[in-house]
Amino acid sequence: MKSINSLRKYTPMSSEELFKRASKLFPGGVNSPVRFYPPYPTYFSRASGSRIFDVDGKEYLDFCMGFGVNFAGYSNTTIAEEIMYLLDNTIPEGVPTENEIILGEIIQKSVPSMERMRFTSSGTEATMHAIRVARAFTGRKLILKMNAGFHGSHDYVLVNAGSGALNFGTPSSPGIPEEISGTVLVGDFNNQDSIRDLFKKHGKQIAAVITEPVLGNLGVIGPERGFLEFLREITDEYGALLIFDEVITGFRFHFGAYQDMIHIRPDLTTMGKIIGGGMPVGLFGGRGEIIDKISPSGDVYQSGTFSANPFTVASGIATLNFLKDRDYEYTIGLASWVEDKLKSFSDMGVQVNRMYNMFTIFFNDGPVIDYKSALRSDRNKFMKFFNHSRDHGIYFSPGQFEASFIGMAHTPEEVEMALFKMVYTLEFDMNENRNKGEQASVNSN
Ligand SMILES: Cc1ncc(COP(=O)(O)O)c(C=O)c1O
Repeated sequence: MKSINSLRKYTPMSSEELFKRASKLFPGGVNSPVRFYPPYPTYFSRASGSRIFDVDGKEYLDFCMGFGVNFAGYSNTTIAEEIMYLLDNTIPEGVPTENEIILGEIIQKSVPSMERMRFTSSGTEATMHAIRVARAFTGRKLILKMNAGFHGSHDYVLVNAGSGALNFGTPSSPGIPEEISGTVLVGDFNNQDSIRDLFKKHGKQIAAVITEPVLGNLGVIGPERGFLEFLREITDEYGALLIFDEVITGFRFHFGAYQDMIHIRPDLTTMGKIIGGGMPVGLFGGRGEIIDKISPSGDVYQSGTFSANPFTVASGIATLNFLKDRDYEYTIGLASWVEDKLKSFSDMGVQVNRMYNMFTIFFNDGPVIDYKSALRSDRNKFMKFFNHSRDHGIYFSPGQFEASFIGMAHTPEEVEMALFKMVYTLEFDMNENRNKGEQASVNSN
C-alpha cells in the first residue's frame, strides 16, 4: 500500500504562495478571521511541545497554543498513546459510548455545578444552546452580555453596543436580524452600575446574564473584587440565570473551573478548548432541572451529529487524565515571571495583564481594567510587537485583544529566552528614537 505522503503531491511552498492559493478558496484566505494578519499569515506545518514550525521549517515558541486549546502541549506521547488505546475500543460515530460517560464524569467530579451536561462540537454551539435552554427555563427573552465579551459567533451573542451600556445592543455583524439583536442587552464588565441599571429597567424580562468570568477576548481582564459575586446576587434577586462561559478558563488555572476557585456557583456553565485536548469540542451544563429541559428528557431541541464523537472524547479523556496529576502552579509561576519582567516597561506604555497563566501585553498608557480602557490600546504598536517577536521566533496570539497562554510544555529556559527577546524587541526593535540615534551614530562613523 502506498504511504499517505507518496499519495500527496508535495511541493514545498512559502507562506506567501500558500496564502495566494488559500485566497482563491476561503474569504480573506482563512477559515477564521483571527488567523489573518497583514500582509499574509505565516503557515504552519508541525508542532511539538511548546513549539510550532512554519512551512519553511522555522521554529517558534508558541504563546498562542491554538488560542488556548493546547494547554498540555503538542504531540504529547502519553496523551497520544492513551488516545490510541481508547479509540481501539470505540470507533463508531453517532451512537452512545462508555467513553463519553467517562469524560462527563471526570468533568462533573471536578466541576460540581455541572449536575447534568451535554457535549457539542464547539464553544459557539455550547453558548447558543445554554442561552436557548435559559430562555426556555425562565420563559423570558432577554439576555445580558458584557460589552466585548465573546461567546462564539452565533446570532444571540454577536452583539456589541459600544460603550452604550444602558441601551439595547446593535448587531456587530450584518446579517443578524434586529429582532434577535434586540433581545440582547449589553453591560460593562467590572461596572456594577451598568448592570444594575439594566436590571432596574428590564430585570423581570432577563432570562440570563452570560459572561466569561475572566475576560479573555478583550485581552485578559480579570474581575474586580466583588463583581462576579454581584452578578450572582442580582441574577438571584431578579430570578435570572447566571451563565459562566468557561470555554477559556475551564481546566486552565487548576483542575476544574474558575468558578470553584472563587466559590461562585453559576446556574449554567459552558466549556470548550482544553476539555477536547485539541479536537473540536464544546459543553454546556449546570443545574439538573434546567438541563433536563433538553430533548429528549425535555422539549428544548438540541442535537449534533459530531457531539461527543469518539475522537474528541478520547482526546478529552487522555488530556484530562494527563492534566490531573500536573502542577498548575508551574505554569502560573512562568506567567508571573513574564509579568514581572515586563512591568518595568509600563512607563513606556506597555501593560501586562495576567490572570494565572494567561496574559495580554497591552500597548496602552494606563491600566487596562475594562472595555473603555482596553480600547485605548494601540493596535498598530501591538502588531509591530507581534511581527518583531515572530521574526525572533516567538508566536503570540495575533491581535491586541487576544490572550496569550503558558501551558505545561513551556520550560523555564524557553520562557527566559523569550523574555530576553521580548525585552530586546521593546527596547530596540520598537524604539524608533533609539534606532534613529543608533543610525545617526553609524552614519557619523
Ligand atoms: C469565551 C469563549 N466562548 C466561546 C467561544 C467559542 O468557541 P468556539 O470557537 O469553539 O466556537 C470562544 C472562542 O474562542 C471563547 O473564547
